Amino acid sequence: MSNHDTKSGFSHEKIETSNFLMIVLILVTVAFGGLVEIVPLFFQKSTTEPIAGLQPYTSLQLAGRDIYTREGCYNCHSQMIRPFRAETLRYGHYSVAGESVYDHPFQWGSKRTGPDLARVGGKYSDEWQRIHLINPRDLVPESIMPAYPWLEKDLVDAEVMPAHMKALRTVGVPYTDADIAGATEAVKGKTELEALIAYLQVLGIHLK
Ligand code: HEC
Repeated sequence: MSNHDTKSGFSHEKIETSNFLMIVLILVTVAFGGLVEIVPLFFQKSTTEPIAGLQPYTSLQLAGRDIYTREGCYNCHSQMIRPFRAETLRYGHYSVAGESVYDHPFQWGSKRTGPDLARVGGKYSDEWQRIHLINPRDLVPESIMPAYPWLEKDLVDAEVMPAHMKALRTVGVPYTDADIAGATEAVKGKTELEALIAYLQVLGIHLK
């Protein structure tokens, strides 16, 4: 096999017959490839800047978003419309990164037991959402979505909202001091159901 040696005396065989060298070089290659793909995204405006008209979630919407994650809605619903005709015909404009710059963490996902919710905002009335969440089968008889009747009775934890918004501000969400000061008052006495519906109703409305 030594006839495969190059002039400099180095053979690819040396890599292929050494587990250690093979692993190290694969890691270097994959890491480099990954960096080339990922690093530019941090500097590209289309992935870091909010789209026109995008507002940070209000205190109530943010509380609703927390309930969305707490209840695991993402286990059955994605929030990412892919740029394919079958998707855009069904759901509307495909999702763009600039729509979720204020989402920490984002809710894109890929598991779709139920429909994608990226543009569900405004699709139904608040009343439809209310009945559907309390018992989906009252509106969609064949639905396999769980019922969430307790959301109607439980109140939002208003006291945690200012700290929550402050934390989001440190990662770049442009909340003002006034937003944070009024955060508790804005959700006081609101049910979890009201908060969740407020959240659902703003999903994807800035890009139609
Ligand atoms: C076990 C899977 C599952 C879970 C968990 C689930 N859903 Fe669903 N969801 C579905 C299915 C299936 C449908 C379609 C049938 C229907 O409309 O009920 C649906 C429909 C919907 C729709 C109507 C979408 C449309 O465009 O018609 C909304 C809104 C929705 N779900 C919100 C939620 C929220 C909010 C949660 C969490 C509180 C949740 N879902 C949890 C399975 C699920």
